[in-house]
Amino acid sequence: MKPAVLDLGVALPRYALDLCDLASARGVDPAKYASGLGGVAMGVPAPGEDTVTMAASAAASVLDRHPGAAADVGLCIVGTESATDRARPIAIEVHALAGLPAECSVFDVKHACYGATAGLHMAFLWVAANPSRKALVVAADIARYGIGSAAEPTQGAGAVALLLGMADEDEALFAPWPMTGTHAAPVHDFWQPPYLREAVVRGRYSIECYLDSLAGAYAAWLRNGGLVEGSLDRLLFHSPFPGMARKAHARLWELSRGADASGAADDFARRVAPGLAVNAGVGNCYAAAVYLSLAGLVEAEGASLQGLCLGGFSYGSGSCGEFFGGRFGRRAAAGRVGLAEALAAREPIDVAGYERARAECEALEHDGSFREDRTGAGGRFTFLGIRDHVRVYR
Ligand code: COA
Repeated sequence: MKPAVLDLGVALPRYALDLCDLASARGVDPAKYASGLGGVAMGVPAPGEDTVTMAASAAASVLDRHPGAAADVGLCIVGTESATDRARPIAIEVHALAGLPAECSVFDVKHACYGATAGLHMAFLWVAANPSRKALVVAADIARYGIGSAAEPTQGAGAVALLLGMADEDEALFAPWPMTGTHAAPVHDFWQPPYLREAVVRGRYSIECYLDSLAGAYAAWLRNGGLVEGSLDRLLFHSPFPGMARKAHARLWELSRGADASGAADDFARRVAPGLAVNAGVGNCYAAAVYLSLAGLVEAEGASLQGLCLGGFSYGSGSCGEFFGGRFGRRAAAGRVGLAEALAAREPIDVAGYERARAECEALEHDGSFREDRTGAGGRFTFLGIRDHVRVYR
């Protein structure tokens, strides 16, 4: 038995905006968003949805499939950069809404899109030390940029909950290997000053920072005894937009095989595209993006994943990157983590509706916005607004 991911749960925002509609509203060639960035649609939260409601829905969705497991959870970590408070963690709201026990360690981890990966590290160690209990790590974020900005088509939102416990390697959904490769660099490629409502992003520079981090983390991974990337059956890359994963695959290919790119396109289609397809329809969800790809891969390939080796790259601006790996087990073969249902439950929204929903979500972010009869989120949990400086959820 070893610490492993037992199962996954997914939550997506209520609305999906077609990027062709956004392109025509912004006077941009739709091909730029579709083939340049690789996006199809982006998730848009409804008023009454926030990081807490999505994180709690993802947690409840995975716990529903494991009756009794909630009572065993002794560690609940949320990896996020969409904090709803500077002191109070989102994890304590997830703890309450998902009905976790009082004997539980509860906190958030922040490092841009890397937070959940850091949280998973801690959680695997904790599970090894507490083998009779389970841990819940939730990656949840809302990616938001300025209306009309270059980054606007790379918005999105979502949450992925990972239930961890001890398992036989063959039985788990995914059993990680102990070695990883990390790379840190003090760069200002993307950050969120507390006095601004939107992120500051040096977009093209952030792409270079990401690729440098990938090269550094992969080199560390090899130094630490990781398999050469060509021996990994599937690859996941943090995907702020799918074109970034394509660039990451090309960089890894070049690092391993030099400048000859013949075969790279087929390799991308076989090893990367199956997990990435879902990101094209959801958009960026920061900390959750690479784990959304994991959920997408499990639902896309199911039984054929059992026994295969996975390599993944997680990147958080600022920056910290990590190359990790492991093996899929029997639980992955079931191929059901609730993603297809979450995608099917979404409703299309037009550009005017997206701008309205965004303004209404912002309007809820002040004391006195609480309304007991608030509807509109449509999901399992609703953010009712703020009363006496307390965020209220139903
Ligand atoms: N048809 C097809 N492709 C087109 C096109 C068209 N009409 N117009 C542009 N493109 C392609 C470009 O060639 C480019 O592809 P390439 O990078 O493979 O060369 C891609 O579309 C994007 O075009 P670009 O001009 O670079 O876009 P931009 O400057 O408007 O912004 C980002 C792109 C990604 C920098 C911007 O969306 C952003 O800042 N995103 C948020 C930050 C981010 O996600 N960073 C990633 C690391 S964490």
